[in-house]
Amino acid sequence: MKDLKWDKDRLYQLVRGKLGDYSFVVISNREPYIHTMSGGKIVWNRPVSGLTEALDPVMRAAQGTWVATGMGDADKKVVDDHNRVAVPPDKPEYSLRRVWLTEEEIKGFYLGFANEALWPLCHVTFFTPPIFRETDWNTYKKVNQIFAEAVSQEVAGGKAMVLVQDYHFALLSRLIKEQNPKITVGQFWHIPWPTHEIFRTCPWQEEILDGLLGNDLLGFHTQSYCDNLLETAEHSLGAKIDREQSAVVHRGKTTLVQPFPISVDFDWLSREADNEAVVREMEKMSRQFNLKGKYVGVGMDRMDYTKGIPQRLQALEKFLERFPDYRGKVVFIQAGMPSRTQIESYKDIGQEIEDLMKGINDRYGTDSWQPVIPMTKQLTPSALAALRRLANFCVVSSLHDGMNLVAKEFVASRIDGDGVLILSQFTGAAAEMGEAILINPFAIDEFARKIKEAIEMPEPERRRRMKAMQKTVASNNIYRWGGSMVSKLISMAGV
Ligand code: F6P
Repeated sequence: MKDLKWDKDRLYQLVRGKLGDYSFVVISNREPYIHTMSGGKIVWNRPVSGLTEALDPVMRAAQGTWVATGMGDADKKVVDDHNRVAVPPDKPEYSLRRVWLTEEEIKGFYLGFANEALWPLCHVTFFTPPIFRETDWNTYKKVNQIFAEAVSQEVAGGKAMVLVQDYHFALLSRLIKEQNPKITVGQFWHIPWPTHEIFRTCPWQEEILDGLLGNDLLGFHTQSYCDNLLETAEHSLGAKIDREQSAVVHRGKTTLVQPFPISVDFDWLSREADNEAVVREMEKMSRQFNLKGKYVGVGMDRMDYTKGIPQRLQALEKFLERFPDYRGKVVFIQAGMPSRTQIESYKDIGQEIEDLMKGINDRYGTDSWQPVIPMTKQLTPSALAALRRLANFCVVSSLHDGMNLVAKEFVASRIDGDGVLILSQFTGAAAEMGEAILINPFAIDEFARKIKEAIEMPEPERRRRMKAMQKTVASNNIYRWGGSMVSKLISMAGV
């Protein structure tokens, strides 16, 4: 049977047609709409996020409820007595239920346990060990409980399907099930799942696994993360594993563990890349950074120690050292969006990257050529598309990454069918994008040779590889991710 293409409309129709009298609830830490004060007025906007993009049509069709932490400085001003606001604010179709956390709770739950313990625990980067503070763990448990109460108020004992997002809520699904066993609960874990040997370093490994196994459906980006979860559940909890079904039986209950590779809105990104504003940005950048006649490389990341930015810069330096003919001919633009800046390890990585870029420019730069161009301010969608289109090669060098959407955004924006992707084999994306030049970011000498290979790749070969990757990403788009998960949840609920 022909596999139909997933799009916004198909996802909408699926939910509309199938949900019946079930209510649909999504929970995430980040909210899909945020209200802030600007010039004495309340304004709203949507964070640029694949997750919001995919789940928005589901929520609109389901007229459901999205539960998230209220973070905007005007968020409290627009909610009703039940902390709800109808969204999208300009054309309300579903409800956003905001949960308020104190500064102390955000510190222990988000900055502490989620991002200083679980994030490094699940990303194997060697250099940033997890920090397991008991106080953070206690706050994490408390915040998961606060969210469980909010969900319970929203569902009010009725029939419901719930989709929990990410590692901020490892305990939530079990709590929801305890309140109402009839609710069908799924969760998507947006980061990798490590091996048992790594996961067992967590002092609360059993509680976390027990919480996750409260889900009916548990999703990861790749089969290998699913396999790691099965192995961890077997060793840490002594749970029964059904490898054929990819399921765990724990406390007499079965949790299905399946891969749902997240993606981008390929058609939208391609359309956006093909507009006048992007062309103007390209011309502006080309003039401003003197790019004419140069080979342009780009890196675009959230400033995170998992992204392998220092390794990328070391490889670039090695490339300039080993292949002196390219000096003066290659420019590398490194765009880095600041992230989680209150956390020490994130401050350190920012400084390390700045020092490395300065070092390269001092050692190799000339009066007429700056090898590395840092861009640290938030870029507009047009500027990001311009960078992707200007690049002869794009480098994604994560040390470990659940999926990595930069790689997919790059190919979706290449409406000219050209450009080379250098991609770390330690990303989830590498499982789908084998036509990229795959690298081991820890092997700096080889990485430097791969930069040369990317620059020298003949045009027909570049186009062949780009076409293949575009075909994959256009088909495995963000709506397939949302659609497959929601379809599975609907069938598990027996609707
Ligand atoms: O990759 C996991 C993830 O939670 C994404 O869903 C999100 O875009 C990213 O990390 C950034 O997270 P934060 O909400 O901490 O800025």
